[in-house]
Amino acid sequence: MIIARTIDELQKVKREFKGSIGFVPTMGALHQGHLSLIHQAKEENDHLIVSVFVNPTQFLEGEDLDSYPRREDADRKICELAGVDILFMPMIDQMYEKDELCIGAPAIRGYILEGEKRPGHFDGMLQVVMKLLNLSGATNAYFGKKDAQQLALITQMVRNYFMDVNIIPCEIVRDERGLALSSRNMYLHGDEKERALCLSRSLKRATKMVMAGEHNAETIKKEMLNVLSDADEVEYVAIVDREFNALEEVEIGNTIILVAAWVGKPRLIDNIWI
Ligand code: PAJ
Repeated sequence: MIIARTIDELQKVKREFKGSIGFVPTMGALHQGHLSLIHQAKEENDHLIVSVFVNPTQFLEGEDLDSYPRREDADRKICELAGVDILFMPMIDQMYEKDELCIGAPAIRGYILEGEKRPGHFDGMLQVVMKLLNLSGATNAYFGKKDAQQLALITQMVRNYFMDVNIIPCEIVRDERGLALSSRNMYLHGDEKERALCLSRSLKRATKMVMAGEHNAETIKKEMLNVLSDADEVEYVAIVDREFNALEEVEIGNTIILVAAWVGKPRLIDNIWI
């Protein structure tokens, strides 16, 4: 495995590649969720690039940029074992210059739900993903459904800018009790680990209601909020279609049910595709 810290190093190794390139962008502190993307990309491509870059432009003032977990050694070993060809860990000055040309998230879809709670977050996310997709020369790029709105906006960016890359959505990986894996789960302590389960429980409850024939979004959201009473604060419960338009009635095969809530220190998100 080659570790590239500069763009020159990355391009030099990439030039030797023949065939398809799979790419998995991450912010590191890799867990089984990331690893499932990496394994899928490995299986479906001739070459595999993973990036680890804690992107400052997608963190808002006062968010956890400085304390965001950094585990370089462990990430390197995980990637090596997974058969990654290039681990791209760029230094900040490689990625940004002053007075940059910026990409803006769409005015509606980029500013609801996560975008409303974290205004500007998606601008920075799209900016770095555009750079990383261009740098990697990926044939196929892998993103988790865990960050459903991020995935929808990246898919839209690729469509709107006619970018030549396939965006591959990957299933959410959970622990044995149902908690969606996240680098921020390590901030959960004591009874918070137990209480954090209310997010996935609320989604299971919603799914059961849909399966039993209840399709009214308001009724389902109300019931989810009951299940979510174990959280310290619920930021939103939403029922949208795959393009992130709000739905009054669940449409089977075209619906995402999402939740964001605070449990102890971390803000957690989860969702289910119906
Ligand atoms: P990060 O949070 O490190 O996540 C990297 C990728 O792993 C994302 O596509 C995310 O959806 C996926 N992922 C995280 N937890 C997952 C889980 N439990 N199951 C399945 N997939 C999971 O998302 C980012 O980084 C950044 O915004 C990035 C796209 C790298 C741009 O900086």
